[in-house]
Amino acid sequence: MIRITVDDQNIAVQENTTLLSACLANDIYIPRQCFVEAGDQAAASCRLCFVEVVGEEYPVTACTVTVSDGMQVRTDTMAVRRLQRAGLRLLLSVHDIDCRNCPANKQCELQNIARFLKVGLKAKPYEVTLKQPAVDTSHRQIDYYPNRCVLCGRCIAVCQNHNTQPFLAFAKRGFDTIISSFGQESESDACLDCQACVATCPVAALALKGQVQL
Ligand code: SF4
Ligand code: SF4
Ligand code: FES
Repeated sequence: MIRITVDDQNIAVQENTTLLSACLANDIYIPRQCFVEAGDQAAASCRLCFVEVVGEEYPVTACTVTVSDGMQVRTDTMAVRRLQRAGLRLLLSVHDIDCRNCPANKQCELQNIARFLKVGLKAKPYEVTLKQPAVDTSHRQIDYYPNRCVLCGRCIAVCQNHNTQPFLAFAKRGFDTIISSFGQESESDACLDCQACVATCPVAALALKGQVQL
């Protein structure tokens, strides 16, 4: 074990672990969407887990930094909160904010992050732009709701880890980016047996057919 200091709290953490894992293991909350535990690491794409580390000129993403003995970290500076609020608003600018009719309501990480950052679930100052169609039903067992998806990549990471052949990938580019199975699952029942992507999705953008009503 080594010791680091986070917001004036001196804690013992495992060596060779990420700063985000170390904080979470010590009940220190850091907003995040793309991070997955237990070796299913996704790409650092959500840009929410910023912290400041003494000696670093700019805030860094806690999920990509490895702890070192004596490291001093601040999770609550103005620069960190500014980046996190901007990141959240960008996510909400392509999000169908309809919590009342959403199956993720009250178990949603976007709601938790907004509450923690003390911001409303609003895209302002950005306009909300939504994708069409609002649901992709092309997969035999799982429906995909692109306007809930935060493109965190967790579903891709767990799919890759749980199946010899990954069935999910990012498709298209820029604003049009979506998650797709490209029809690869169509011959098998692997997805019905696995469902790891549905379980890990933080916002109910993936759901077994028949379980979600728009
Ligand atoms: S995913 Fe979360 S923030 Fe989005 S509509 Fe559903 S409950 Fe609301
Ligand atoms: S479907 Fe869910 S888990 Fe997959 S990228 Fe979108 S929000 Fe993340
Ligand atoms: S959790 Fe670090 S960038 Fe998403």
